[in-house]
Amino acid sequence: MSLPTVVTLKEMGPRDGLQNEARAISRADKVRLVDDLSRAGLSHIEVGSFVSPRWVPQMAGSQAVFADIERRSGTVYAALTPNLKGFEQALQAGADEVAIFAAASETFSQRNINCSISESMQRFEPVMSAAASAGIRVRGYVSCVLGCPYEGEIPASQVAIVARELHAMGCYETVLSDTIGTGTPGATRNLFAVVARDIPREHLAGHFHDTYGQALANIYASLLEGIRVFDSAVAGLGGCPYARGATGNVASEDVLYMLQGLGIHTGIDLELLIQAGNRISAVLNRPTGSRVARARQADH
Ligand code: HMG
Ligand code: MG
Repeated sequence: MSLPTVVTLKEMGPRDGLQNEARAISRADKVRLVDDLSRAGLSHIEVGSFVSPRWVPQMAGSQAVFADIERRSGTVYAALTPNLKGFEQALQAGADEVAIFAAASETFSQRNINCSISESMQRFEPVMSAAASAGIRVRGYVSCVLGCPYEGEIPASQVAIVARELHAMGCYETVLSDTIGTGTPGATRNLFAVVARDIPREHLAGHFHDTYGQALANIYASLLEGIRVFDSAVAGLGGCPYARGATGNVASEDVLYMLQGLGIHTGIDLELLIQAGNRISAVLNRPTGSRVARARQADH
């Protein structure tokens, strides 16, 4: 398959990126991050999540963040919602779109959302109907598609079953997520090839954490497999609180740099994106996780 001319990057920094931070981050800093990202040209930003504040305290202020962001037309401001309660809060907050999240591993499902995979599907049904009534699109994540922190290897066939269910339920996009970043390009290609037997490629996306430094290679492998939508987090922020040791999503700056090198259009301004990443890294008082941003700092 040849490379595409256009790719969509969906920005995870404010949600997947910040959810794991132990120290409280001010509402103003979160809002500034979202606004910086929309100004840089990101057309889809996951702003926060409406999950139990006992499970993920950092996301407790998501409603207030939604209230204060500057809405740019054409930008989709999305929220992660595990159940109907979360969906209702997201709707009230003015989320344009929501995402539900399932896992390909039973143990991860229990640890992350406190129920089995099949119970999670039952919980998602009312979210899907409420979203349909409200005219809200729903994205569906499948976690642990290339390995589980508790169960180890996960067969592609098992991922395909969960992905198929989310797609059949009405998710417009099913996001194969390498939660712990153990996947390699061959396994990634094979996974998309298997899942694409049931789900058209334009309804699939990739979400790669960069723990083992494989994420860019996995994105390239996915491009060759016909995938056109990828998640990333500015400055490589983040990790999942229920996947110990896993680092953040691949840095948006690094993905953008690679795509630009391949002549693929995204609509995102690299300099503004680097500035957004540097600013939030300064707030967090740590060096950016983006190699491209670091190289640019060394240049200057
Ligand atoms: P539970 O304890 O089984 O829930 O948690 P419950 O239904 O029994 O309710 C217990 C209490 O939580 C009740 O309150 C509910 O009202 C409240 P109480 O009556 O005791 O005062 N509650 C809520 N509060 C706020 N918002 C809600 C909500 N739902 C119930 N939506 C639950 C089940 C799903 C809520 C919990 O396990 C949870 O919040 N899990 C979320 C964990 C999470 O956010 N993980 C990180 C995001 S996933 C991720 O990062 C992976 C991804 O990036 C892809 C990848 O990389 O793999 C997407
Ligand atoms: Mg993630």
